[in-house]
Amino acid sequence: MSSGDCKKVTISTLRQMKGDGDRITMVTCYDASFARLCDRGGADVLLVGDSLGMVVQGESTTLPVTIEDIIYHTRAVRRGVTRSHVVADMPFMSYQGGLQGALQNAGRLLKEGGAESVKLEGGEEICEAVDKMVRAGIPVMGHVGLTPQSVHAMGGFKIQGKEPDSARAILRDAKALQDAGAYAVVLEGMPVELARVITAQLSIPTIGIGAGPDCNGQVLVIYDLLGMNPDFAPKFVKKYAELGTMIPAAVAAFKQEVVSGEFPGEAHSFHAKGPLFRPTEVVPRRPVLDDEEDSATGLYGVPV
Ligand code: KIV
Repeated sequence: MSSGDCKKVTISTLRQMKGDGDRITMVTCYDASFARLCDRGGADVLLVGDSLGMVVQGESTTLPVTIEDIIYHTRAVRRGVTRSHVVADMPFMSYQGGLQGALQNAGRLLKEGGAESVKLEGGEEICEAVDKMVRAGIPVMGHVGLTPQSVHAMGGFKIQGKEPDSARAILRDAKALQDAGAYAVVLEGMPVELARVITAQLSIPTIGIGAGPDCNGQVLVIYDLLGMNPDFAPKFVKKYAELGTMIPAAVAAFKQEVVSGEFPGEAHSFHAKGPLFRPTEVVPRRPVLDDEEDSATGLYGVPV
């Protein structure tokens, strides 16, 4: 399937893409304007990631993000989408506290947010919840390897599965998710060699981030690929634009034209059809000086 094809992307499309050897493109997305642009750019999947806690809310981890936050952003993203599949992240503690709560929260992301599937971090320990969701008609994407919601348990944002035992545990987790009914799985922060084996052994698509070129697709945080933060350049990110320098430069240019009076010019201004005021009404306002009395009558020399 080419990105120029306007047919809505579903989980069947993604499965088919793996079968056909077509690579899947996924980006994170948090609002309608970006959704429209990413959809137009041909992204197959838009992930309303809990990374929004870091890049939108300014937190240092994804842990503070709530289910309400994800619902709010998913609704916005859905309004901008025509073709891309929309998957919503289940935030920290929205699925770990019991099967019923997990199912209800996943359902809210579809019912209230308009998501078309949900994504959960974890392996064998979440498979019962995944199974329940899938049986309820909620498509689930898994996420193994470096799982940011476990940042404290991992001792930081560290590459996982570098040793044979931990690599085998991640492979087991990925297989368990497939067996529980997940339609795809994100492989984050792991050696190329491990991602390659997982991708070969699973029948469902793998989507990598910091997991090398052999996955069935790739995902990046949209703010990272656009280079929004000039101070953030981890090895797994490639910047396809430099908005982190372009945006301040554009704001500075705007400021310079505001200060000089160059903006707005004639091209950006509107005119009345004819005279709006009598000449005597057009008395210029002047600013109040510090030593002037702040009274309603002393402020402006104008008209009524
Ligand atoms: O929240 C997120 O952005 C993610 C991606 C990095 C896969 O989970």
